[in-house]
Amino acid sequence: MNKRPIIIDTDPGIDDALAIAIALFSEELDVRLITTVAGNVSLENVTFNALRLLSFFGKDVPVAKGAEFPLLAEFVDASNVHGKTGMEGYDFPAPKEELLLPDHAVNAMRRVILESPEPITLVPIAPLTNIALLFALYPEVKKNIREIVLMGGSASRGNKGVMSEFNIATDPEAAQMVFQSGVPIVMAGLDVGLKALVYPEDSEEIQKMGRVGDMAYQLFKRYRGGSFKTGLKMYDSCAVAYLLCPELFEVVETYVGVELRGSMTAGCTVVDLKGYLHQEPNARVLLDIDGEKFRKWFKQAIAKCI
Ligand code: BDR
Ligand code: CA
Repeated sequence: MNKRPIIIDTDPGIDDALAIAIALFSEELDVRLITTVAGNVSLENVTFNALRLLSFFGKDVPVAKGAEFPLLAEFVDASNVHGKTGMEGYDFPAPKEELLLPDHAVNAMRRVILESPEPITLVPIAPLTNIALLFALYPEVKKNIREIVLMGGSASRGNKGVMSEFNIATDPEAAQMVFQSGVPIVMAGLDVGLKALVYPEDSEEIQKMGRVGDMAYQLFKRYRGGSFKTGLKMYDSCAVAYLLCPELFEVVETYVGVELRGSMTAGCTVVDLKGYLHQEPNARVLLDIDGEKFRKWFKQAIAKCI
């Protein structure tokens, strides 16, 4: 079977770490590049974390550092959720510095996309700054992108503001550029992320699944994306789950806009399920997930990370 080539754009981040693990150890995905962007914590920290993860997993995937700040918005991180360094609670080995490319993420993405014989799938699980810059600078890459499967946005309420989700709200202008890019988009937002839960009994099982399971367990104890007891939200794994197990989700094709101004709603995705805006669909939005099946899938996926 031909593996599906992907680029992960990320800000690890505890839930990012698990999504990356699942993708790296999957038999169906070929992670060609990991790019980093300021999000959960600073660009320096998320890049350091990506390199530490690769060293821990024993995987030699090139890493390229991207944008340090959103395009226009003031940068506000999520260290209140992921801890000061973004991935606290586990004693990782030293980062594999040799995997860090000298190129900016945008240039590295351009090269990987244009050199690939098969179209690449982009998997952004962080603010969309790098992807927006990529399309602004090198629109020619679009022809060799199969689709973008992103974690971000919401068709209902928010987790950063009343209506806004963290990845979109951190860089709304970038998100708008990506949603207007014309590239096929799958949006795995909060409608599924909030239901992709790992319960304490799952965490106990996961801890016994070897070193990756134990690492996950230690990070989970520090993760405040939901309490350890009431269920931890595996937001970013939803994007990877869609690639590997799309039957977990209910999907609707619709128009998604991004609210840039608005005294209470800036940074929210406007998911026009009823067609009020008279726009052509620009995304497939994951509206629901089978939470029970997700838990099972997630545990099986982590068990394969050896
Ligand atoms: C998103 O925000 C980040 O904190 C998570 O890593 C995820 O990508 C959820 O809103
Ligand atoms: Ca993330």
